[in-house]
Amino acid sequence: MARKFFVGGNFKMNGTKESIKGIVKNLNEAQLDPNVEVVIAPPALYLQLARDELTKTGVEVSAQNVYNKPNGAFTGEISVSQLKDLGVHWTILGHSERRTLLGETDEIVADKTKFSIDGGVSVIWCCGESLQEREAGETIAVIERQLAALAAKVTAADWKSIVIAYEPIWAIGTGKVATVQQAQEVHEAIRKWLRANVGDEVADSTRILYGGSVNGKNCKDLAKEKDIDGFLVGGASLKPEFVDIINSNQ
Ligand code: G3P
Repeated sequence: MARKFFVGGNFKMNGTKESIKGIVKNLNEAQLDPNVEVVIAPPALYLQLARDELTKTGVEVSAQNVYNKPNGAFTGEISVSQLKDLGVHWTILGHSERRTLLGETDEIVADKTKFSIDGGVSVIWCCGESLQEREAGETIAVIERQLAALAAKVTAADWKSIVIAYEPIWAIGTGKVATVQQAQEVHEAIRKWLRANVGDEVADSTRILYGGSVNGKNCKDLAKEKDIDGFLVGGASLKPEFVDIINSNQ
């Protein structure tokens, strides 16, 4: 089954009105591979601005997080219905920065994922191991634990609204990209797990992105791997080379 290449830009807590306008302008004017689905995730404060400035078809806006409760007394949070009110139909969930710095457990991330999908917002669901876990030979076990928590909450139909991002924590923002083999090995294991635990259709159709120090130079080789269906890009999504990453599958 052909899986449409997917590239997400996670701006994290970066950007100003001016810089985000500049990034969007660059995308509006660029020649982008029409066979790629592109999603940019500015900080929540700038979602509306990014939406208003985007004129390029095939590029959508995503939140970086969302809360798993309907509107109400939840100071500082944003809701699924508020995202939809802005015309935002994607959110990142379970990024390792939220898991490690903000205490989001596998179960919280799975709950949020289910809640978002039920509300009509698709999810870029992140997983990944720490350096310590990799060195202890626990990489696949960690990913499988994270996947199992997710699979326990979502239905077979929900997987259509999920894109998986494998982001080894040791490769995030470090300039230390996983080797092509390291990335492909984990992507293959994720697909194998989906096949065994969810089903063939979900295993064949779910996009699995790689994230962690992807840049304009290393993206082409990673994109060639059979189980790498795109990227979730941090730092380089703030720079003009993001266009090269979007076009890396050509
Ligand atoms: O979500 C993207 C990410 O965590 C990777 O960040 O800066 O290493 O590309 P970066």
